[in-house]
Amino acid sequence: MKSLLALAVTVVSVFGIAIDGCHCKVVQFIFGDSLSDVGNNRYLSRSLAQANLPYYGIDFGNGLPNGRFTNGRTVADIIGDKMGLPRPPAFLNPSITEDIILENGVNYASGGGGILNETGGYFIQRLSLNKQIELFQGTRVLIRNKIGKEAAEKFFQGARYVVALGSNDFINNYLMPAYADSWTYNDNTFLDYLMDTLRGQLKILHKQGARQLMVFGLGPMGCIPLQRVLTTSGSGGCQARTNKLALSFNKASSKLLDDLSSTLPNASYKFGDAYDVVDDVIENPSKYGFENSDKPCCSFGRIRPALTCVPASTLCKDRSKYVFWDEYHPSDAANEIIANEIIKKLGFLRDDKPGAPSEAPAIAPSSEE
Ligand SMILES: *[C@@H]1O[C@H](CO)[C@@H](O)[C@H](O)[C@H]1NC(C)=O
Ligand SMILES: *[C@@H]1O[C@H](CO)[C@@H](O)[C@H](O)[C@H]1NC(C)=O
Repeated sequence: MKSLLALAVTVVSVFGIAIDGCHCKVVQFIFGDSLSDVGNNRYLSRSLAQANLPYYGIDFGNGLPNGRFTNGRTVADIIGDKMGLPRPPAFLNPSITEDIILENGVNYASGGGGILNETGGYFIQRLSLNKQIELFQGTRVLIRNKIGKEAAEKFFQGARYVVALGSNDFINNYLMPAYADSWTYNDNTFLDYLMDTLRGQLKILHKQGARQLMVFGLGPMGCIPLQRVLTTSGSGGCQARTNKLALSFNKASSKLLDDLSSTLPNASYKFGDAYDVVDDVIENPSKYGFENSDKPCCSFGRIRPALTCVPASTLCKDRSKYVFWDEYHPSDAANEIIANEIIKKLGFLRDDKPGAPSEAPAIAPSSEE
């Protein structure tokens, strides 16, 4: 018995975290927008939300574009790494198989996508959260056919889920006069509409097996370089109204997650945001080792906003000193700060603090009791 236990421990440490009663691993399923996309939009050939050109990915792996909308890692990459979980590949990658999903999970995140179907319409192609959930339902069928109903149920209930959308629902929908939502709703009714939609989506995910799920909140999106360029005063300052909307979204989401966690059976649904820290980084960049917190590192000369970083763009000298990589997206260095803050808020183990006690719920192999 003892040696069996020892063997089990070895197996876990060699092959990752295993799930009781199913010879499978704990993996992640990620739903999100460009902040979490790891290449889905590369396969949406008509999508205008693309990170498929240099210099995206310049500080990741071989430095070639990989579909991430930043120079290095996404926040979900960093958090998953710190939890000891494999990095899930992009769902639309044609080489994805059931075996790959069983080993690594899968990522449905898509640049331009939102909680609402209508968000990001001008990108032409993007996967909305509803579409991502539909694809996940398809994934469940594939896995069930592969390993059987019971094992599949254990696999999906043991997995970790990340849901990280919302900024496009404001920036590429509600705040744009070209979208019907901007004149159909006001700040309060739009937030209610978003929360009702998100509640329904999270309940569907629960029905589909999601038990351990985290939702990432929004940062001070009124301070992204794009929003600063668009200030009507021309001051280049943050858009106060946009930031206020992000704060109300975070407050309402946090309440929604508490509510779902206490009402859905066996659900551990958590909310984490990094609003305050990012706000402080933007206000006091040097305190965190940054030199610039208002302009994109990758920009197209003086033509701004250039909506994406393109091969003809020029790069800042030191990418680790810029909070923003392009007009919309934080740099790898900023993502690290955001990830650390979310980990702290959610109470997960910080592996950069040697000897820190392990927070069992986040990574324990048998927390389904
Ligand atoms: C949103 O899109 C999905 C398809 O992805 C569809 O099933 C659903 O009915 C749509 N919802 C609304 C409110 O339009
Ligand atoms: C909740 O967990 C218990 C114990 O693992 C299990 O028997 C039960 O089926 C679970 N319920 C749901 C809805 O997941």
